Amino acid sequence: MMLRLSTRLLAIAAAAAAIAAGQAVPASAAGPLKDKTNRVVGSAVAAQNLNQADFRSVLTREFDNVTPENEMKWAVVEPNRNQFNWSGADAIVNYAQQNGKTVRGHTLVWHSQYPGWLNNLGGNELRSVVQQHINTEMGRYRGKIRAWDVVNEIFEENGSRRQSIFQQRLGDNFVADAFRAARAADPSAKLYINDYNTEGMNAKSNAMYNLVRSLKQQGVPIDGVGIQTHLATRYGYPSGFRQNIERLAALGLDVAITEADVRIQLPVDQNKLNQQATMYKQIWDDCHAVARCVEFTVWGFTDRHSWVPGTFPGEGAACLFDSNLRPKPAYNRINP
Ligand code: XIL
Repeated sequence: MMLRLSTRLLAIAAAAAAIAAGQAVPASAAGPLKDKTNRVVGSAVAAQNLNQADFRSVLTREFDNVTPENEMKWAVVEPNRNQFNWSGADAIVNYAQQNGKTVRGHTLVWHSQYPGWLNNLGGNELRSVVQQHINTEMGRYRGKIRAWDVVNEIFEENGSRRQSIFQQRLGDNFVADAFRAARAADPSAKLYINDYNTEGMNAKSNAMYNLVRSLKQQGVPIDGVGIQTHLATRYGYPSGFRQNIERLAALGLDVAITEADVRIQLPVDQNKLNQQATMYKQIWDDCHAVARCVEFTVWGFTDRHSWVPGTFPGEGAACLFDSNLRPKPAYNRINP
């Protein structure tokens, strides 16, 4: 008891000294979040922000995985056919390699942020171009990516297939085909399907469950299901989240929380921050309740850089750290 107390006091003193020295505030007297769990703890990052010293130091200290926020999306890496731009993706993978982080590759086949030239392709050509894309991108980073979001957001809210160009021109099998191509392109990567609003028990998560069960039965090489987990305090916590993780795990699949954030209707107040903290803690606990929930990744760790204000007008403050990189109640709740 005495020992623990004095360790804590020392950490607090170190924190105070760091603040006095004008450095980024140490997140917690209790030590970095990544050291608190045997789950992979990750954050999405934009390559350009890796050049910000204070951002980079908190990222490196607190997390053991990075997910490129946009840099590996098809529209970014191949805006025109056969014209590639790997600069952002390379920067993030290099950062990871140099700092002992893993990478979650995101994402290969998605109805959004794909290049316009795909729209001009008929089914047969599109099918081979998708295969080629998976080969090229996964091949470039072969052995350096822990897990890939191979296929992203294929369901509507009612559980039917989203009518993307992939669905319309290639049919239902585009999903199984993508996983087979992905396994061949990098056998060392864990292969995931990923979606949002599939946290709780609902029509969309039922569709996800039924699909991955059938893929497993057919021997399609899929290793896990990503649950994005973009939550909002005003909608509360999705009911049945833990049960849903449990049923996916029972199929012999890993589960990853891939894009967690909990947005708040502005302006922020203490009550909303506390509600947010409770919801982050529920996500954390539900993941830790199931052995096969292997990853807890947030979609950005600081309110300084978050997709939320640009996407949900009037909402924000969705992250674990404020824009000055000070830990918020949510951070302190999961890392007391
Ligand atoms: C978002 C990025 O954060 C934004 O910068 C970009 O403008 C749009 O995409 N689900 C996903 C992510 O799988 O790729 C999305 O990322 C957020 C929702």
